[in-house]
Amino acid sequence: MTAATRRLGDAPDPASLDDAERMSVDELRALQLSRLRWTLHHAYDNVAFYKEAFDAAGVHPDDCRELADLAKFPTTTKADLRDNYPFGMFAVAQEQVRRVHASSGTTGRPTVVGYTERDIGTWATVMARSIRAAGGRPGHRVHNAYGYGLFTGGLGAHYGIEKLGATAIPVSGGMTPRQVQLIQDFRPDLIMVTPSYMLTVVDEFEKQGIDPRSSSLQVGIFGAEPWTEQMRLEIEDRMDMHAVDIYGLSEVMGPGVSQECVETKDGLHVWEDHFLPEVVDPLDATPLPDGEQGELLFTSLTKEALPIIRYRTRDLTTLRPGTARPGMRRMDKITGRSDDMIILRGVNVFPTQIEEIVLRTAGLAPHFQLVLGTKGRMDTLAVRVEARPSTPVDRRVGAAAELVKAVKDTVGVSVSCEVVDPDTLERSVGKLQRLVDRRERG
Ligand code: DLL
Repeated sequence: MTAATRRLGDAPDPASLDDAERMSVDELRALQLSRLRWTLHHAYDNVAFYKEAFDAAGVHPDDCRELADLAKFPTTTKADLRDNYPFGMFAVAQEQVRRVHASSGTTGRPTVVGYTERDIGTWATVMARSIRAAGGRPGHRVHNAYGYGLFTGGLGAHYGIEKLGATAIPVSGGMTPRQVQLIQDFRPDLIMVTPSYMLTVVDEFEKQGIDPRSSSLQVGIFGAEPWTEQMRLEIEDRMDMHAVDIYGLSEVMGPGVSQECVETKDGLHVWEDHFLPEVVDPLDATPLPDGEQGELLFTSLTKEALPIIRYRTRDLTTLRPGTARPGMRRMDKITGRSDDMIILRGVNVFPTQIEEIVLRTAGLAPHFQLVLGTKGRMDTLAVRVEARPSTPVDRRVGAAAELVKAVKDTVGVSVSCEVVDPDTLERSVGKLQRLVDRRERG
């Protein structure tokens, strides 16, 4: 079956779009400038951290006369939020804060973010816009398997589904057999989940003897972790549905900062009426022009509880002109975070590069782990990857050799590869951690 047999791959009726989605670049830039100036004042007047940071850099909100002036202002990092834990970055009184979320991070304190009533409304608006861009319409049923709780995925998606006029099925993550049962019984049109957990659900369909292509699902909205074009093809083929990318981060809002349109699948349109993107050199934060790859920064334009100025996401991407929404720039699919980059004997390696090769190698399943180790004084990287259930055991050695050669040829590093039995590597119900660091220190 081809994509042409799928429902819900069409562009929305232009009349159903938000005003901002129909703005020209010039209209949008004017709106951004007035909102940016408001945000800079709001942050400076109400958050001690920003006042100190701006003063130390010798800039004042009044110095922002055009959008390019933003580059004069200091950047903000995750460490700044941690240092002001829990509520020190909030710009409104506690009575105005309707909700908090937090992201756990790998070490130390979580980062805490807050929302006023209006912020929650804005978030629902951009999420509803995202789901519509993905093909969702009022009246659709949406299976929401993003985790509910302090993570922004579950509740962020939830309010967007309701705002669109669709039906939210708030399943959250985990209990995989039940996910399949609910999809079979409630017959949702869309699913929202991390791409890695989607694969676990697809495997579960097969384990239960149900053809995943026969499910009611037409569109999956996947994000919260990096995933590749190869992974899109794998999921689209095995589920016979559209797979589109959604991006966001709690410090900036949560999911719904940018979204891929289902009719073009050509990167994610940033909802620029609320979030102003920049790309900078990851080493020294020098601004880079659109079209060049670097670290993505965001400045919020309307947020009340937690205005965020030039936040360094650590995510690597390129900004490009809009297509399906001509006024709004697109960002390329995130190839990785600068934190996830492995530097192996001087060569930069991203887990997504390995993912593409795994998925291109016949006989290998999309479940893999990257294990960093030490041999003598050298770092080593081992790819542990599952065989597909249908792969004959005597194909495994050949598949491993193909992968090792492809990594050497395309990434430029030598790795080892072990093909393990199907269903033996750990699965995640939310964000997947692919990297296992077993290097000896000292
Ligand atoms: O992951 C928000 C979210 C929930 C986005 C559900 C999409 C869907 P955090 O937990 O704060 O927020 O993590 C943010 O996750 O800086 C990226 O590194 C990564 N990330 C999020 N979406 C994508 C994506 C949520 N589509 C961090 N592609 C970000 C690649 C993504 N990485």
